Amino acid sequence: MISKANELLYKSKLTNVSFKHMDINNIDTFGNFDVIISKRCLINIPTWKAKKDIIDIIYDKLNPGGHFIMIEASQQGLDRLNKLRQQFKLNPIEVVWHNESFNEQELFNYFNFKFNVMRKTHFSLYYIISRVFYPYIIAPYEPQHASPLNKIAAKLHRKLPDLYNYGLHMCLDLEKIE
Ligand SMILES: C[S@@+](CC[C@H](N)C(=O)[O-])C[C@H]1O[C@@H](n2cnc3c(N)ncnc32)[C@H](O)[C@@H]1O
Repeated sequence: MISKANELLYKSKLTNVSFKHMDINNIDTFGNFDVIISKRCLINIPTWKAKKDIIDIIYDKLNPGGHFIMIEASQQGLDRLNKLRQQFKLNPIEVVWHNESFNEQELFNYFNFKFNVMRKTHFSLYYIISRVFYPYIIAPYEPQHASPLNKIAAKLHRKLPDLYNYGLHMCLDLEKIE
């Protein structure tokens, strides 16, 4: 993964970017940052206490006014999606044991006085098309990951505003409060 990233970096001609492979618990050995991005990484950190400890480290490592872009799993987003699936007689999506979703209420309470939530998206259109519409019209066959419908769903998500809050994942743009 790092060598692929370095190939892309080389082509991009950027000079202020470097990649390192390390345990997220040890990022406190680095300097400070304007932006920290976590994409489906905290989902694998096993307890709420351990997740909070890492969010605290991220907070400390951000410069004043810095942003934490967090793309992680949402329990409430999944619950809403599963309720919608139920209305179309689709089985609930089960999350694998090593992926632990965030309870949004708990998370947002924890952000108080740490981060302003600048933007929140659930990729709803993508999830409604790929996890409700597509499986419904293709039943009793199983949906395929490589289906063009999933690609169209992703394209539509990028082109249209995110109106709802259905989906396994949420993306949060969080601004550090001093
Ligand atoms: C669900 S995968 C997501 C991968 C990729 N970010 C994506 O969205 O497709 C979770 C990733 O978190 C990484 N991970 C889990 N625990 C970690 C830790 N303590 N420190 C750093 N990375 C970790 C795993 O190695 C894995 O690559």
